[in-house]
Amino acid sequence: MYHIFAKTAVFFILFTTLLFGEQNQRVIDELASSAPEIPLKNAMGEKAYNDAMNSNKYSYVGNSKCRLCHRNFFLGRKKDPHDHAMESLAISNNEKNSHCLMCHSTGHKMPSGFVDMEQTPRLSNVQCEGCHGPGNVHIQMAQDKVKNETKRFSGGGFLAGADNPQVLKKMCTSCHTKRWDKAYHDFQKAYDSYKKADPSTGH
Ligand code: HEC
Ligand code: HEC
Ligand code: HEC
Ligand code: HEC
Repeated sequence: MYHIFAKTAVFFILFTTLLFGEQNQRVIDELASSAPEIPLKNAMGEKAYNDAMNSNKYSYVGNSKCRLCHRNFFLGRKKDPHDHAMESLAISNNEKNSHCLMCHSTGHKMPSGFVDMEQTPRLSNVQCEGCHGPGNVHIQMAQDKVKNETKRFSGGGFLAGADNPQVLKKMCTSCHTKRWDKAYHDFQKAYDSYKKADPSTGH
């Protein structure tokens, strides 16, 4: 009887070291440094960001709202690791760590952004708005066009969208800092692949 217990215990210890014992050096280094700035603030610059936030115009709506008009993008993103970014935090038990959530969730530490799984589950992971910024103004514009039957809506209203591609580019490097830039080899190629609904090729 004792023998079986001992064997099970040894197996359990071996198993957990295999799973968790492999220390992730980047995670250790990240934890030892100070938490990063809000990615959108870093990308826009402090003044433009503060002006936008103080206007109280912008808020996060969650990606289910985007699904209505961008079904292919919504479905394509389900395969994108951005849409599973919080799973990577669970491996080291950091899924509630605010420091990590700055880059692994949507709008953390921003007004109307991700708080925690209990309060804001609809903003978990790096969603559409994690790259493009709050989506409420864009949706309002799209709906107004439909209502007024004016010519087709061509986009706009994002703090990091087609109106301001330089901010969108800086969004990438705000999260993909020197420590976290191994996801792609060729930045431009990776960036361009996100024009497609399914970005899983061409990194
Ligand atoms: C809010 C932070 C954030 C922003 C903004 C962001 N990323 Fe990421 N990105 C991540 C995280 C976190 C992961 C890793 C997800 C995981 O595996 O947990 C990732 C993963 C990736 C991957 C790997 C995908 C794969 O198929 O393996 C690529 C490529 C990538 N990002 C490119 C970009 C580009 C290009 C931009 C800008 C248009 C961008 N990212 C913007 C946080 C971000
Ligand atoms: C400054 C933004 C940023 C912060 C802060 C951050 N990450 Fe990430 N993380 C990324 C990006 C971007 C990737 C995609 C991988 C790459 O590009 O190298 C990633 C990938 C990962 C991965 C998968 C790749 C790997 O190395 O196994 C894990 C696990 C991870 N992060 C854990 C964490 C944990 C835990 C924390 C908090 C201690 C954290 N991250 C904080 C941006 C960040
Ligand atoms: C990793 C960052 C990232 C995420 C996440 C992301 N996008 Fe994008 N998106 C981009 C980039 C980069 C472009 C290309 C912008 C350009 O042309 O300069 C783009 C372009 C687009 C376009 C325009 C495509 C075209 O034909 O020009 C649409 C529509 C779009 N995204 C919708 C979405 C929706 C909806 C989601 C969520 C389901 C989403 N995006 C998630 C980075 C992202
Ligand atoms: C009521 C319909 C509607 C909804 C809801 C909607 N969009 Fe759009 N969006 C459009 C139309 C129409 C365009 C014009 C180009 C096209 O057809 O792809 C567009 C274009 C875009 C573009 C490219 C132009 C730009 O401004 O950068 C992005 C990115 C985008 N949408 C993201 C989103 C995201 C993210 C959401 C959810 C927060 C969303 N959209 C919700 C109708 C909508």
